[in-house]
Amino acid sequence: MPGVVVVGAQWGDEGKGKVVDLFTERAKLVVRYAGGPNAGHTLVVGDEKIIVRLVPSGILRTGTRCVLAQGMVIDPDRLLGEIDELISKKKLDHDSLASRLTVSDRAHAILPYHVAIDSLREKGDAAIGTTKRGVGPCYEDKAARRGIPLGAFRDLARTEKLVAAAIEAWSPVAKALGGELPSPRDVMDLVRRVRDRILPLLAETSAVVNDALVKNEDVLFEGAQGTLLDLDHGTYPFVTSSTPTSGGACTGSGVGPTRIDRVIGLVKAYTTRVGGGPFPTELTDAVGDRLRNAGQEFGSVTGRPRRTGWLDLPGLRYAVRVNGIDGVALTKLDVMSGLDEIMVCVGYETPAGRSREFPIDDLATAKPIYETMRGWKESIASAKKLADLPDAARAYLDRIEKEIGAPLDVVSVGSRRDETIVLRHPFHGGS
Ligand code: GDP
Ligand code: IMO
Ligand code: MG
Repeated sequence: MPGVVVVGAQWGDEGKGKVVDLFTERAKLVVRYAGGPNAGHTLVVGDEKIIVRLVPSGILRTGTRCVLAQGMVIDPDRLLGEIDELISKKKLDHDSLASRLTVSDRAHAILPYHVAIDSLREKGDAAIGTTKRGVGPCYEDKAARRGIPLGAFRDLARTEKLVAAAIEAWSPVAKALGGELPSPRDVMDLVRRVRDRILPLLAETSAVVNDALVKNEDVLFEGAQGTLLDLDHGTYPFVTSSTPTSGGACTGSGVGPTRIDRVIGLVKAYTTRVGGGPFPTELTDAVGDRLRNAGQEFGSVTGRPRRTGWLDLPGLRYAVRVNGIDGVALTKLDVMSGLDEIMVCVGYETPAGRSREFPIDDLATAKPIYETMRGWKESIASAKKLADLPDAARAYLDRIEKEIGAPLDVVSVGSRRDETIVLRHPFHGGS
């Protein structure tokens, strides 16, 4: 069972980093296929916490090679910063770097003018609460066929022309937003500074990934963001500019759908969202604050407080459908401990009547229909099997499993590796 995709089923931050790190103990490759430094994936080992943004979450497993595939957008300066941080924390070393980390030469470069445009837009009326990392403008350049793949850095004269053309194209936009762009000279200074360290990491990564799959080696495709932030399937226009859903694992890394064996959907036991956009089950009361504080729901990229709310079962059924989710990793169940009652959204009231469907096009007006379930008081962080959980927690899990039609593979009850109940390991059948 070698090709496994891990995908966020909500609005991101479901705990993908933890679960990818857990699953990849013996995996050959971990492949990030979409997004860029807008992601923040947290890995906790012992008392140490590491947040990766561009580097895949398999980096702590020394036998695992990490691939940044061509569906990603990569800020080369930030990538080097992240590598240096991992080296300073002794999670990587200079000698093994090239064998541990491979970057697609066709992944597009996020350059300072992308960041400038993203930030300028976020000051205006069109703000949607992006991470201001230049992700949207970089994908825009790619779609407009004026982007700069990292492989272009091999030819400085060519890069210089591309940079000049991109800055020229963005200049009227910057002017209309009342801001300025960095000069082509400044951008080229950056390119010259980073290229000697970036070029040795570059490869045609689709061949690397397919070779591993052909040899039947374990390959994990690490999604970033989440289903409801997907450009095609999310709450448009309050979305990111890439394809976080499982289909993106194929287009973003250059493997065929026939190579994917299992899709695991990451589901947080409640819902969070960072940035703007509809969120029907949002809690703006003391219960929402409680979830935020107990779950430490503050953005790992920007530090922004995350919006919190109840679990949305129609939303999860939608995620199961658009990703083809075969199994669920449910995280942060421990955060629900201490609540008297737990509400779950089971359907929606819409102008057309009651429905079990997720009203993706009418989210701002549709009214969630809730059912109330019993809460539990006990701490559950030390649970090692389902039988260790209080009855009310098991009833909550049973309900989720039944309603969304996908089995639970994992139940996570804390941020550490050992705070996990593994019911089905994707790379070795049982637990
Ligand atoms: P990602 O973007 O999906 O990788 O998720 P983030 O790392 O941005 O956010 C998830 C946060 O929850 C991180 O701080 C994790 O350490 C933490 N976390 C993951 N699983 C659990 C869990 O089961 N319980 C608790 N309490 N924290 C968890
Ligand atoms: P991980 O991988 C949560 C959100 C932003 C904003 C929208 C567009 O850690 O789950 P962008 O900078 O991508 O143009 O912002 O998408 N967003 C995320 N929210 N987790 C993420 O990643 C996110 N990446 C982007 O907050 O609403
Ligand atoms: Mg995150």
